[in-house]
Amino acid sequence: MGWPAPPSARTSRLQASNVPCVLWALLAAGCHGPGPRKDSLGSCFPPLPHPGPGEWTPWGSWSRCSSSCGRGLSVRSRRCIQFPREELCWGDTHEYRLCQQPDCPPGAMPFRDLQCALYNGHPVLGTQKTYQWVPFYGAPNQCDLNCLAVGHDFYHSFGRVLDGTPCSPGAQGLCVAGRCLSAGCDGLLGSDAREDRCGRCGGANDSCLFVQRVFRDAGAFAGYWNVTLIPEGARHIRAAHRSRNHLALMGGDGRYVLNGNWAVSPAGTYEAAGTRVIYTRATGPEETLRAAGPTSEDLLLQVLLQEPNPGIEFEFWLPRERYGPFQAQAQVLGWSPRQPQPREVDPQPLESPTVIPPRTPIPTPEPCPPCPDTRGRAHRLLHYCGSDFVFQARVLGRVRQAQETRYEVRVQLIYKNRSPLRALEYVWAPSRCPCPPLGLHRDYLLATWRLISPDGTQDRLLLPHAGYARLWSPAEDSRVRLAARHCPL
Ligand SMILES: *[C@@H]1O[C@H](CO)[C@@H](O)[C@H](O)[C@H]1NC(C)=O
Ligand SMILES: *[C@@H]1O[C@H](CO)[C@@H](O)[C@H](O)[C@H]1NC(C)=O
Repeated sequence: MGWPAPPSARTSRLQASNVPCVLWALLAAGCHGPGPRKDSLGSCFPPLPHPGPGEWTPWGSWSRCSSSCGRGLSVRSRRCIQFPREELCWGDTHEYRLCQQPDCPPGAMPFRDLQCALYNGHPVLGTQKTYQWVPFYGAPNQCDLNCLAVGHDFYHSFGRVLDGTPCSPGAQGLCVAGRCLSAGCDGLLGSDAREDRCGRCGGANDSCLFVQRVFRDAGAFAGYWNVTLIPEGARHIRAAHRSRNHLALMGGDGRYVLNGNWAVSPAGTYEAAGTRVIYTRATGPEETLRAAGPTSEDLLLQVLLQEPNPGIEFEFWLPRERYGPFQAQAQVLGWSPRQPQPREVDPQPLESPTVIPPRTPIPTPEPCPPCPDTRGRAHRLLHYCGSDFVFQARVLGRVRQAQETRYEVRVQLIYKNRSPLRALEYVWAPSRCPCPPLGLHRDYLLATWRLISPDGTQDRLLLPHAGYARLWSPAEDSRVRLAARHCPL
């Protein structure tokens, strides 16, 4: 339940520092107590909270690959430098990545077999008896060195396998510290980075456009009809229809890949344009084509009509820069006017029987509307006094989602906080077009609210619409310190 975990899970801190704003204002007015300190302007501020986590040293270099052939892993590490009172650094001390060496020569002994064989002929199990050992894969933890005594019906676990041992033959995962980890597309073991639809590792599907259309020409005669050009670079291509007609595919050289020259090809896998095209036919009647791409040349999708065309659904993802030329070409060939336009999000499964109505093209997202004016002293006061946190932050990252924007920020200087802030926080804005927008790698003064999730397990820093977010400057810093003295009691 709740929201995705921020860099620091802001949990269980609901009791902490529940000093209301007004109390800080009181303290600030008189500088009573040990906490508040005087700044250069002579006004008082709450004490800075705990100094947060320590700092990592830079990563060391990657170690040599753990194996000399086939797959292995290499590792690098870093250290946490902590000053007194600082917490441990966040993150891992070690990072593991997959390394791919040339294939092992035929007959080479696999890594796990080698580790079992080390015990061959040695007395084990507290007796003088010796055994020959081979890997045993039926035991619960595949990252334990479970070895079967050849000719006997028992196995023994000799502790963990060495790091870099495949979890099981043919599996993708490798054992690291007794756990089976698989690599993300960034090559890091245990990483959850995946390739997006555009083929970018960890991308957000934003460097390509999704083309999804239905070809509805009825066909005035039996024979081959052009359905669509599938430009070079297309990915995740799918085409399907339910009729006794046949899809045909032509390569860039004008030669048919399948169903050409009035001859029906068998269902199966075909190589074309640098990718594998999977062609299936079912007695629905129904036909599908699929290819992962990216294609290395243009393909022409056609249909061989034998009966009226009930509609051919097709879709693919196209690099942004290829969309314009594709669209222009489709128009020249007269293919587009009656066809729905591309959508960028939420592709429907091809099985969906719905007809997609024609739309106007949306090649890029709607530009954001202008933001309301949020300048002025009253606005600053309102937000300083009303908010739960005021701090200076560097914007490190931004993720736009359908209904909200998430900024990752590094907290630089805290002016006001009603519970502890960590060095890294997420700040959420309630729109994909937040106002005011924050630029990457810039320093801002932010006033944020704390918003607790409905199940009470997590809280968020919320930058409200038209809230207080101004580029940090010494002048703005002074103004905000002055504002602190004017909060109503
Ligand atoms: C990219 O698009 C696919 C298919 O629509 C979707 O499943 C996936 O979650 C999207 N990825 C991101 C990062 O939005
Ligand atoms: C189909 O498209 C190809 C390539 O653009 C073109 O050469 C051909 O004439 C078209 N065929 C028909 C029937 O429109």
